[in-house]
Amino acid sequence: MKTNLNELITKRPWVGWVIFGITMLLVFFLGILASSIIQRRAEANLLNVPRYAIEEFEPRNEAWALAFPREYQTYSQMADTSFRSKYGGSAFRDLLEEDPRIVILFAGYLFSRDFNQARGHVYAIEDIHNTLRTGTPADETEGPQYASCWTCKSADVPRIMYSMDTKDFYSKTWANYLSEMVNPIGCANCHNPKDMTLRIFQIPLKEAFNRKGLDLSKSSLNEMRSLVCAQCHVEYYFKGPEKYVVFPWDKGMSVEEIENYYDEYEFYDWIHPLSKAPILKAQHPDYELFQHSIHYQRGVSCADCHMPYKTEGSMKISDHKVQSPLNNIENSCMVCHRQNKEELIRNVYDRQDKVYKQKIALEDILVKLHIEAKFAWEKGATEEMMKPVLNLIRQAQWRWDFVAASHGASFHAPLESMRILADGIDKASEARLILSRVLASLGYNETVPMPDISTKAKAQEYIGIDYNKLKTEKQEWKKNTLPKWLEAAKKREKEMPMPQRIL
Ligand code: HEC
Ligand code: HEC
Ligand code: HEC
Ligand code: HEC
Repeated sequence: MKTNLNELITKRPWVGWVIFGITMLLVFFLGILASSIIQRRAEANLLNVPRYAIEEFEPRNEAWALAFPREYQTYSQMADTSFRSKYGGSAFRDLLEEDPRIVILFAGYLFSRDFNQARGHVYAIEDIHNTLRTGTPADETEGPQYASCWTCKSADVPRIMYSMDTKDFYSKTWANYLSEMVNPIGCANCHNPKDMTLRIFQIPLKEAFNRKGLDLSKSSLNEMRSLVCAQCHVEYYFKGPEKYVVFPWDKGMSVEEIENYYDEYEFYDWIHPLSKAPILKAQHPDYELFQHSIHYQRGVSCADCHMPYKTEGSMKISDHKVQSPLNNIENSCMVCHRQNKEELIRNVYDRQDKVYKQKIALEDILVKLHIEAKFAWEKGATEEMMKPVLNLIRQAQWRWDFVAASHGASFHAPLESMRILADGIDKASEARLILSRVLASLGYNETVPMPDISTKAKAQEYIGIDYNKLKTEKQEWKKNTLPKWLEAAKKREKEMPMPQRIL
């Protein structure tokens, strides 16, 4: 071969020049490729180093946007509320209108006034102003809510909570911070501004880990991609007169272990005005139930589905439009699954449909139980007769709410959700059996008459809620009272400098 080539070049010298030329071209393009790879690497490295000096606890998402316009742009897309899936999405949904049974289950609790589908993080402040659950405080001294309510709503929370004693923070009224909490959930809730690593700010999460002797700072990046969400998407309660926010995980995170924890404190959120049962309100145990999912067990994190990577030019960024993954199947599921979009959606709906059906079955029994228990009290039932019934109502409603309040659980952990609901149905049925014996012993053997609760308006009327009055009061409060706090906030923020360019 060698001699052949030499002979060829000696005979036809231009062949040598052609080979030389091709080699030079190859070297040239390889060089360009290498330089482009190095440049992209450098870009990627630079990506996470803020080019602006962002202050510790900087609450303004617009200030972080100077350094990270791409993430901020996707974050801003949460303003879009057009997507609606079968059970989720960010489009408006009046959950009490869709299912008026909930009004009865939450009677005596503020959720029976108003309960809408959650939407994107950018709406957290607007929605907490709007909900009838926060009432219409005239000044900083008025309730009905405590400052604890802010804990999961604002990028101002780290700024305020790290500047004072935690106890002092919670025990103030909600209205006390209306001029401080103005930036919705954002960058400051999840990131360290020095290097943009993920950081846990939420004090109750840190405290829950500390009580178990676990060290949050030892978490892997993959764990952090779920733990940043566990700052808020978890079960919690307000402990004692200070309304101290506590994650009740000391005995474990299952529905039974959390119930045992509450039972030990004899804790209840409110006494149900119809049945008089001491009820536990589940918040949104997304992180807890997610741990029962096959995805969690295979190391998939919340961010994998709700904040998937996307490419922008040469950049790979995390999509900060936190939303229903069904609005973004290509990036959120199809990176791991080879099935087509329709099939994946069908898989999700299939699980949700089944869980939803069980959930409604349990609600139907619970509604009857509250109303029948009320009837029994009116017929002269004694505390002693009612005690086992009330205890079972508490247990059954806790199981219902644990699944219902975790909005993603029917997909995240369908098997565990079904187990919990089945257990709830079992307990509720047992309660009804005992209750019918109580009624029989009081000489009543008929079916207890049921009110018409087929719409939200009828159900609210039955439990004595004047929705229109509350709504009007709220509108007036937003027009006449709220602005004084918002103006004070604007003035305060004007004094805060924007970050300066450093790189
Ligand atoms: C394997 C993908 C996947 C993972 C991992 C995952 N989710 Fe979800 N999540 C979904 C899907 C699918 C839905 C249903 C969306 C719908 O019904 O439109 C959902 C629903 C939700 C919802 C309700 C949203 C709505 O529009 O109603 C919340 C809140 C949520 N998830 C939070 C979390 C949190 C917090 C974690 C981690 C602890 C997590 N998810 C992990 C896929 C996932
Ligand atoms: C709910 C928590 C959360 C919030 C709020 C949040 N991020 Fe992130 N951010 C994440 C997660 C999770 C990642 C992925 C981290 C990883 O895997 O290394 C990330 C990654 C990043 C990165 C690294 C590059 C990338 O895109 O993966 C930047 C820069 C960033 N976020 C900027 C921002 C900015 C700016 C804001 C506010 C507008 C913000 N983030 C709000 C959770 C959050
Ligand atoms: C600081 C508290 C906080 C953190 C941190 C947080 N969330 Fe949320 N999240 C909320 C609140 C509050 C809402 C409801 C906002 C509303 O309806 O106004 C919400 C709403 C949502 C929704 C419903 C949005 C929709 O369009 O259906 C999803 C999904 C969600 N969060 C997932 C996550 C995931 C995943 C993480 C972690 C990457 C996370 N959240 C981190 C508090 C938080
Ligand atoms: C990071 C990878 C990853 C992502 C993203 C992901 N999955 Fe999965 N998924 C898995 C793994 C791994 C399993 C378990 C399969 C196994 O181990 O054989 C699984 C299992 C499932 C199952 C069967 C679980 C069951 O109930 O038995 C369904 C359904 C599913 N995924 C749907 C989805 C949907 C819908 C999305 C998007 C919202 C999604 N997955 C996103 C990795 C992923």
